[in-house]
Amino acid sequence: MAIKPHIYQESDTLYRECAARIVELALDTLAHQEHFHIALAGGTTPRGLYQFLSRLGHEEFPHWERVRFYFGDERNVPPEHEESNFRMARESLFLPLQIKESAIKRIKGELPPEEAVPHYQEILEELPKENDAPRFDLILLGMGADGHVASLFPGTPLLHERQQVVGANFVEKLECRRYSLTLPVLNNARHIILLVSGAKKADVIRHVFHGPDTAEPLPVQMLNHEKIEWFLDAEAARFLDTENEA
Ligand code: 6PG
Repeated sequence: MAIKPHIYQESDTLYRECAARIVELALDTLAHQEHFHIALAGGTTPRGLYQFLSRLGHEEFPHWERVRFYFGDERNVPPEHEESNFRMARESLFLPLQIKESAIKRIKGELPPEEAVPHYQEILEELPKENDAPRFDLILLGMGADGHVASLFPGTPLLHERQQVVGANFVEKLECRRYSLTLPVLNNARHIILLVSGAKKADVIRHVFHGPDTAEPLPVQMLNHEKIEWFLDAEAARFLDTENEA
C-alpha cells in the first residue's frame, strides 16, 4: 500500500506545495551537508514546478549555489532539442536562477550509448555513496500513464538492471532510445517525490493505491514506497479517497 498522497485541486497549489517540500528537504540537508544533490524529472509536468521554484525569493531559499542538479533520465537528443529534458529544465529553472554550468550535471543525450553511459557513470561517481551506490538527497520523478518512471518502461531491459547505475534503454513503443538512472539508484535516494497530474494518470494511480497486485509490478511499484512522497492533482487522484485534498 502506497503512503497517503498529497492531493491538490489547483495545479498552482500542487506546484507551490511540492516546491515548499523540496525547499524543506534542501534546507534540512544543507544544515549538515555542503551540497543538496537532486535528480530532476523530465517530461512536461515538472515545468510548472521548476518555474515556481525559479520564482522563489532569496528569503524563501537562499542556497541555490549549493544545489547540484542531475537528471533521472534524458532523451537521446541534443541539449537544444525540443524533446530534451535538459532544455526544459534550462528554460524553466537554470536560466531564471542563473545556475552556474558546473552545478548542472546533464546526461549527454547527443552522444551514443557507448559514450553517454560511461560519461554519466563518471558523473555519478562524484556523489556520496550509500549501500555501494550513488546516493541522491532527492530524486524527483514523474510517472507515465503506463506506470513508467524516469525512462524505466514496463517490459524494457533496463528496468531489470541491478548492477549498472545508468544505462541506455530502447523503448519499443516510442521507437526511441532513452538514457536513465536504474532502479538501484532510484531506490538508494534519501527521498523520492512523485509529481503526477492529469486525468490520463488516474487509472494507474488507482492501480498503485488500490491494486489489485499483478504478477508483474509496474515500474512505479518497484520503487521503495517508504521513501516516496506523492504530489497529485485532483484529476490524477480522482479515483482515490480525497479527504485530505487541499
Ligand atoms: C521523461 C520523464 C518521464 C516522465 C513521464 C511523465 O523523460 O519523459 O522522465 O519519466 O516523467 O513520462 O511525463 P509527463 O510529465 O509529460 O506526463
